[in-house]
Amino acid sequence: MKYDFDREINRKDTQSAKWGVIQNPDNPSRWHATDAYFGENRILPLWVADMDFPAPRPVVDALVRRAQHGIYGYTIRTDSYDRAVAAWMKRRHGWEIDTGWIVSTPGVVPAVNFLVQTFVEPGERVLLQRPVYYPFFNAIENNGAEIVSSSLILKDGRYEMDFDDFEKKASDPAVTFFILCSPHNPVGRVWTREELTRVGEICLKHRVLVVADEIHADLIYRGVTFTPFAGISEAMAQNTVVCTAPSKTFNLAGLHTSNIIIPNTTLRRRFQRTLDRCGMGKWANPFGVLACETAYREGEPWLEQVMAYIEGNLDFLQAFIDTQLPGVRVIRPEGTYLVWLDCRELGLDNRALKRLMLEKSRIFPDEGFIFGPEGDGFERINIACPRSILKDALTRVRKAVTG
Ligand SMILES: Cc1ncc(COP(=O)(O)O)c(C=O)c1O
Repeated sequence: MKYDFDREINRKDTQSAKWGVIQNPDNPSRWHATDAYFGENRILPLWVADMDFPAPRPVVDALVRRAQHGIYGYTIRTDSYDRAVAAWMKRRHGWEIDTGWIVSTPGVVPAVNFLVQTFVEPGERVLLQRPVYYPFFNAIENNGAEIVSSSLILKDGRYEMDFDDFEKKASDPAVTFFILCSPHNPVGRVWTREELTRVGEICLKHRVLVVADEIHADLIYRGVTFTPFAGISEAMAQNTVVCTAPSKTFNLAGLHTSNIIIPNTTLRRRFQRTLDRCGMGKWANPFGVLACETAYREGEPWLEQVMAYIEGNLDFLQAFIDTQLPGVRVIRPEGTYLVWLDCRELGLDNRALKRLMLEKSRIFPDEGFIFGPEGDGFERINIACPRSILKDALTRVRKAVTG
């Protein structure tokens, strides 16, 4: 079946967060409900990472049938579900997993919080590579630990890991845990096998446990290969907790279903105990498990088409910005539908940049600084939307910048 991603679908009255809430411009930690995304002079939401496209047809059909059944009682994860997850990892990423390694959680962010609670003692330090997905900061700090960043380096338009700095920080005995974002949100890097091997070996050497957040692993552009971190070696697998989900891949985030893959039995039991202590992890969401299994079994044709469309959006964005938006540079992503824009040449501070986007252009991207101080002067935009919306957004910014 051929999907039409050009069609703009109105998300009003669907309780969508992306199209329903907005940050207070003067206080980024405060949010309020809004209908400013609709009607005349609407704001275009390009922030949170969900797509403005319907999920694959087989998923929608399966959910409709299930909804019509009418009984939504306690639900279990079946063997067939686990086999679908394992088959996906093998087919798409060449990573062989045992179905017994899978632990389900209602999202990757909850899982990262539970992982910090399980494996990090108060006062210990957690290594990150900023700029990075900001909910990691809360997961660390809300659970009594400290953030240490081995910040990424921007070199010739591409971000790289700083291995010397990383090793220096990993060798601190208070650093016990590293959250790897792979592919990396917001900078869009799909780390190479060599980079991952190097960083993984440093963690093994200094006994730093790795959480590999691979939620964006399926969203890879042409010519780029994703390497599953725990697939690199048995030693790496035994030292890693891998966070996966069908939510970014198939636009299912609201169904709150993710699969945490833990090859090491001791680590897996400890994590499971934390879930048990919270009374979680026994039952599943009926729509979430059905959508995940159906997507992994039947969603590939949709995924191929959506990635081709998003790559078209990326080419469009790059050409537009290169020729019509002086002062802005695209950090070309290798994966994810999130694009990190270097706006530093506009010469605006964070507050003025926010005014340019929200008040003058009436678009709402994620501000770079929320990903850490390394993000000052950057913006992150979500390009998983009909091209007409992207074009409208870019045209507005051009008008605001060039007057
Ligand atoms: C790196 C990363 N991890 C996790 C999430 C969210 O995970 P979940 O919705 O499963 O909590 C996102 C969403 O943007 C993300 O980019």
